[in-house]
Amino acid sequence: MNKPRAALGPPHHHHYGSTPCTRTHQIGALLVVVTTFFLTRLFDHSFAPCSSSTIAAIGRGGAYESAVARFDGGGGSLAWPHRGYGTRLSLRIYVYEEDEVDGLKALLSGRDGRISPESCVKGQWGSQVKIHRLFLESKFRTRKKEEADLFFVPAYVKCVRMMGGLNDKEINQTYVKVLSQMPYFRLSGGRNHIFVFPSGAGAHLFQSWATYINRSIILTPEGDRTDKRDSSAFNTWKDIIIPGNVDDKMTSDAVVRPLPLRKRKYLANYLGRAQNKVGRLRLMELAKQYPEKLECPELKFKGPDKLGRLEYFEHLRNAKFCLAPRGESSWTLRFYEAFFVECVPVLLSDQVELPFQNVIDYKKISIKWPSSRIGPELLEYLESIPDESIEEMIANGRQVRCLWVYAPESNPCSATNAILWELQRKVRYFHQSTETFWLHNGSVVNRDLIEFSKWRPPMPLP
Ligand SMILES: *[C@@H]1O[C@H](CO)[C@@H](O)[C@H](O)[C@H]1NC(C)=O
Ligand SMILES: *[C@@H]1O[C@H](CO)[C@@H](O)[C@H](O)[C@H]1NC(C)=O
Ligand SMILES: *[C@@H]1O[C@H](CO)[C@@H](O)[C@H](O)[C@H]1NC(C)=O
Repeated sequence: MNKPRAALGPPHHHHYGSTPCTRTHQIGALLVVVTTFFLTRLFDHSFAPCSSSTIAAIGRGGAYESAVARFDGGGGSLAWPHRGYGTRLSLRIYVYEEDEVDGLKALLSGRDGRISPESCVKGQWGSQVKIHRLFLESKFRTRKKEEADLFFVPAYVKCVRMMGGLNDKEINQTYVKVLSQMPYFRLSGGRNHIFVFPSGAGAHLFQSWATYINRSIILTPEGDRTDKRDSSAFNTWKDIIIPGNVDDKMTSDAVVRPLPLRKRKYLANYLGRAQNKVGRLRLMELAKQYPEKLECPELKFKGPDKLGRLEYFEHLRNAKFCLAPRGESSWTLRFYEAFFVECVPVLLSDQVELPFQNVIDYKKISIKWPSSRIGPELLEYLESIPDESIEEMIANGRQVRCLWVYAPESNPCSATNAILWELQRKVRYFHQSTETFWLHNGSVVNRDLIEFSKWRPPMPLP
């Protein structure tokens, strides 16, 4: 089955042969697509339970069960549900080259090119480097701008800023300079351009983001709706929540293996700093009251008592539940890490946004508890959960955690593929604003009926 977009093709290229497509052809194709779509859905509904594949991303149960992603565990393909995205990825992404745009190099490695990608790929913000590398290798990469559906603008600014490679002012000015050299950015008002902002600050890292890239697609782990800033840089309709970057030692090498439930010393744990956050402070108090149930040490982040990566994971795996309270912002890496040591994550971060919510039923793999109710009541509740239910959630989590891993796209169950599916949903035939109009013959004009190629888009562009 082809999905409607592929059948119609974006305005500037089509995927099928060289026969010109008349409008009648296109409408015919669309009808076929729509019919096949409903037939396939029908079949899916009647036969889904007989399928031999395992359910990877767990659905909402009942009538919707067939609408979930299925992963055939034998190394086969991930069957994405129709209600998710369709059945085939067909995307063309142009990745800007470091040297083609003046300033891009500084966004990748600092003002004097001193900061290496190797130092930026590590840690919870490594997704900014990994996604760039994965897109460079992707079979969906195109080297022709004129046929691209989407454009990827690589930048490692979170890392570059932390390592002193650029300050806030330079980041802002460099982004503006870079964007001003991108005609395709102007053409769409930025709407088909993709940016990654891997930290809690989201797109705020680029001070004038709201002026210049608030129409673009932003990949970020953060839905920072309650952040200290008065405006959120995350918009659920155009942006995509991505998983945080879990240490490779855990995702690919699994150097710290999970413990059997009965061998775990604690009911729950939280291993992190207090950072003066209400929820975290409450947990630390609670741990003093119930030291045998809750492990919640004041962690040292420097000096000889600092936990190493492996020690950290060894602690984390020693509880049935891994608590994930809000920190400086609402997303927390701990949530993702929990799946690799196989504790059940308990979100204590009310505003959190989670990735791929259309295909993952988070109720089956985690718990979200109101942060205003952190106290003995929480521990009592967690204690009341039978081990069988915990085991079940852990088993479900084991199946979906591949979606948190930035593995090559040849791996059907990976963050990479999930992001590509999400991106495919963001492809638009049309990229303009309320000041844009079109005519029967495909001409795009402005309010004064002047052809698109002859006017300056009305939005503020560099
Ligand atoms: C960001 O840079 C642009 C271009 O130099 C400038 O117009 C804008 O005022 C800057 N934004 C901030 C917040 O300084
Ligand atoms: C984007 O920015 C422009 C200019 O600042 C503003 O007019 C518009 O409302 C913004 N759009 C969104 C979705 O924030
Ligand atoms: C489309 O129609 C308009 C109005 O008749 C005309 O001005 C324009 O040149 C046409 N565009 C093309 C591409 O033929």
